[in-house]
Amino acid sequence: SAAEKGGYASFMLKEIAEQPKAVTDTLLGRIDPEGTLHLDEVRITRGELREVDKVVIVACGTAYHAGMIAKYAIEHWTRIPCETELASEFRYRDPILDPHTLVVAISQSGETMDTLMALRHAREQGAKVLAICNTNGSTIPRESDAVLYTHAGPEVAVASTKAFLTQLVACYLVALYLGQVRGTKWGDEIRTVIRQLSEISGSVERVLETMEPVRELARSLASHDTVLFLGRHVGFPVALEGALKLKELAYMHAEGFAAGELKHGPIALIEDGVPVVVVVPSPAGRSVLHGKIVSNIQEIRARGARTVVIAEEGDEEVVPYADHLIRIPATPTLLQPLVATVPLQVFACELATARGNEVDQPRNLAKSVTVE
Ligand code: G6P
Repeated sequence: SAAEKGGYASFMLKEIAEQPKAVTDTLLGRIDPEGTLHLDEVRITRGELREVDKVVIVACGTAYHAGMIAKYAIEHWTRIPCETELASEFRYRDPILDPHTLVVAISQSGETMDTLMALRHAREQGAKVLAICNTNGSTIPRESDAVLYTHAGPEVAVASTKAFLTQLVACYLVALYLGQVRGTKWGDEIRTVIRQLSEISGSVERVLETMEPVRELARSLASHDTVLFLGRHVGFPVALEGALKLKELAYMHAEGFAAGELKHGPIALIEDGVPVVVVVPSPAGRSVLHGKIVSNIQEIRARGARTVVIAEEGDEEVVPYADHLIRIPATPTLLQPLVATVPLQVFACELATARGNEVDQPRNLAKSVTVE
């Protein structure tokens, strides 16, 4: 009903708007004033966490994109090898698992069949399973060794938004906690990032306040057939998520690519007027990849692409090559997905609406896929 949507035209719009609070709620009580993490609720002992020699993340859909981003954070802050795999692929390839493997299963609903089967397989091999889940008492946390709940509140729209942002927060917490417990050379950076994470919801709020030009742009693209997305490093999964949202909601051909792969195929898709959304990493000094992606933007623009550039405030280098510029607040490199994803959600939602689609209940899709 209209009342349940709290005055918004759809649950999706309501849930997008709730993201700053969802992020805050997921951090609540887990960081002390000294900037130390407290995750005692995760019932895997510190001793066991110190012995972990491999992390494997399994998930489906949007949760899988959160897991892809987690890999960058976990390997950087903990120096433990980490792989992220689609739950539907995982158990059919005889993966290598043992009691020193930490498997992280990410699921909003806690009921996705492939994710559940993947974690059952992992536990049979003796691995420890930590669930990141938004639904209290659902099957996946019940069958796991431990759970870290996201506090996004109920998510009604089929396409995941606030659950995704809180999954990211939970993944960063796991990565930082593992780093904190094990002690790595990144100790100072970990403490700094914990503080920055505790302030990030203000940045999400700022992004939401500046979305009108994004909505306008989305409406102007309603009659296009294809939108491409490019990113690098943690911006790559963000590009995949932007493309997934557009498929789910606008029923458009949308693809995300790692910008470094452009010359290995995707550049052949560029023709006059094709919109390409580019997620730009932090400017030079903080990310060596910045210059590389600026060259990519020039390359595709020279071939006719209409460039939609998502770049941090203060990044002036991209300005000459952006047909449309979407600003996001400056953020530590690994945390950028928390702000960079938001315009892509708004973009997909508005484009879908402009195309006359029902955003909360996209055709052929289910909120939770409980069959294989
Ligand atoms: C379905 C939903 C997606 C979701 C995916 C995984 O495909 O439509 O929004 O990302 O399932 O769901 P889960 O509940 O496991 O996060």
